[in-house]
Amino acid sequence: MATLQIPDENRTLTGAREVAEYLSGIGITYERWEASAPLAADASAEEILAAYATEVEGLKLRGGYVAADVINVNARTQGLPEMLAKFRREHWHDEDEVRFVVQGRGLFHVRPRSGPVVSIEVEAGDLVCVPAGTWHWFNLCPSMEIKAIRLFQQPAGWAPHYTESDVASQYEPVCLGASYFPHTSHEQV
Ligand SMILES: [Fe+2]
Repeated sequence: MATLQIPDENRTLTGAREVAEYLSGIGITYERWEASAPLAADASAEEILAAYATEVEGLKLRGGYVAADVINVNARTQGLPEMLAKFRREHWHDEDEVRFVVQGRGLFHVRPRSGPVVSIEVEAGDLVCVPAGTWHWFNLCPSMEIKAIRLFQQPAGWAPHYTESDVASQYEPVCLGASYFPHTSHEQV
């Protein structure tokens, strides 16, 4: 499950309910989803979308999303450094950024209009909805891979608007990883 860090307060939250409650307070939806059937590590986009069809359709209705796809990024992805350079600058979108992680691990930083910056480390089974207009940035964890379902409100997609703030450079992206939970396996693809 996701790990929430509040660096300015030296706090780390790990329980799914605790994380969901904190994020709800700053307008971010966090849920855990279970696949309807076991998924192979090399499952196709169609197989992934089928395994989570009930959850995806439910979220489409709730959030007004009209399209879903699967993004698959890893160390072999062409243009990865340029892609990551865009993600890690603080920005917002005109539509929600919705990600359900199927494999891999990443770090969303969110800067609420009031309250401290939080970092949300997402892994397999985590759904995060970052509402339109929310200031945020994203890093991959050291495994440099993420496979995720994305949902969109506008088929035209979304473009980042950069805040031109250097706040992202003030927060070291720290992935705690599965090792933060030494007695539990959190890799559940
Ligand atoms: Fe974004």
